[in-house]
Amino acid sequence: MSASIIDGKRIAKELREEIAGRVASFRGEHSIQPKLVAILVGEDPASQVYIRNKQRACEQAGLASSLIRLPDSVSQSELLGQIEDLNQAPDVHGILVQLPLPEGISADLVLRAIRPEKDVDCFHPENVGMLAIGTPRFLPCTPAGVVELLKRSGVETRGAHVVICGRSNIVGKPLALMMMQKGDGGDATVSVCHSRSRNLEELTRQADILVAAVGREGFITGSMIRPGATVIDVGTNRSANGKLVGDVVFEEAVEIAGAITPVPGGVGPMTVTLLLENTLRGARRTVR
Ligand code: GUN
Repeated sequence: MSASIIDGKRIAKELREEIAGRVASFRGEHSIQPKLVAILVGEDPASQVYIRNKQRACEQAGLASSLIRLPDSVSQSELLGQIEDLNQAPDVHGILVQLPLPEGISADLVLRAIRPEKDVDCFHPENVGMLAIGTPRFLPCTPAGVVELLKRSGVETRGAHVVICGRSNIVGKPLALMMMQKGDGGDATVSVCHSRSRNLEELTRQADILVAAVGREGFITGSMIRPGATVIDVGTNRSANGKLVGDVVFEEAVEIAGAITPVPGGVGPMTVTLLLENTLRGARRTVR
């Protein structure tokens, strides 16, 4: 039997159209165009692609966006100065500093410098704390994209055992918080596995919903999946032949899983879409 494919591209398009509609009503009502400013430090090729995708998505949804490009050689204090200017700018509703940052710049310090009300990535400790106690200001983009994919594909999370492989601050940890939370898209029993977990296969085979967020090609093989499980692949790895691949061995998984996200075309388009949602949310705050 072959798994059904969860089409992230189609679902993201549907959600972007909804967001574009809400952006248009907001602009009509308040004469404010929500605006995202991204900061890109250095020339990392993957980051350049991500930033381009984010800007194009903003444009298509009716949001304003601009990009500040800084050289690798920029000092931490110059970067912090730029962020402070954006913190103060009344027409800027979302600030995003693309990661990774060059050596010599502390990502921790930089992310803490972003005003929490404009922190559309939801990386600031204040926003992470608010998420943890169930009163989120923003939802982090990739985890929120995963939850939205599950909802819109009709995958029940309530009471389900969700096994997340990966404990990063960007995906694993916040996704675990969201999925254990009460309510729609949550109410799951969540296990988080990582590189030190014993008997990994025994754990992953318990999953009704298995999330791979490790960042290693070929990490999840067919034997690690319970027949019929839903498999969400958050990995974005460059294969030796230059192709974009996930963490899951797709050809094996598709024969065993009940439903699966492809890479590309699964979680990736959702991440960008949720950034649009957060920028609109940032703008709404200014009119309340
Ligand atoms: N680099 C990789 N993923 C992300 C993300 O979600 N946000 C930012 N700012 N940088 C990233």
